[in-house]
Amino acid sequence: MVKIAVFVGSLRRESVNKSLAKNVERLSPEDVEFDYIDMDLPLYNQDLDGDLPSSVTEMKRKVEAADGVLFVTPEYNRSFSGVMKNAIDWASRPWGENSFSGKPAAIVGASMGALGTTQAQQALRNVALFLDMRLMGQPELYFNAVTGLDENGKVVEGSEDFLRRFAEAFAKHVENNGQ
Ligand SMILES: Cc1cc2nc3c(=O)[nH]c(=O)nc-3n(C[C@H](O)[C@H](O)[C@H](O)COP(=O)(O)O)c2cc1C
Repeated sequence: MVKIAVFVGSLRRESVNKSLAKNVERLSPEDVEFDYIDMDLPLYNQDLDGDLPSSVTEMKRKVEAADGVLFVTPEYNRSFSGVMKNAIDWASRPWGENSFSGKPAAIVGASMGALGTTQAQQALRNVALFLDMRLMGQPELYFNAVTGLDENGKVVEGSEDFLRRFAEAFAKHVENNGQ
């Protein structure tokens, strides 16, 4: 069993990134299990580093128990969302207890435009590398939700193979411990 901690950077009920995550989960090999992180966390406050909120402790435990991490990010003003940054900041702390250290990881994202989160993903790559994650370089997945999802949030037939190829490559990346 390959366990993936999944960070979806949107709290929106009808989030297209949540839909993208669900589609990648559905198209992943059978032995891959997605564990969705509850992103509705308090705002990061360094005063609490010695006494973490229970929701944060639980989130850090989930990440540490996972074999890999998948970031599914919206693009907000040409970067990734504050919701995503907040969760990452918590998971990276307290100093010396970075839950992401050495984890195999990948970044994907969906937006309503043709550029489909290119800049959000690039900004997030910088953070993930700093946090010592083993990022998968290829294949990349920039998803246009307008043309790529049907009214039920299911990926359109023409895009399924592409998502399946990504999901299979990511499962291998995690099984190989990001080597
Ligand atoms: C504050 C804000 C900034 C945004 N900036 C961008 C952007 O820079 N690039 C982009 O492609 N879409 C941008 N969008 C549109 C999002 O791609 C769109 O709202 C998308 O549905 C967000 O993902 P979600 O459905 O998972 O919440 C922005 C949306 C918001 C709310």
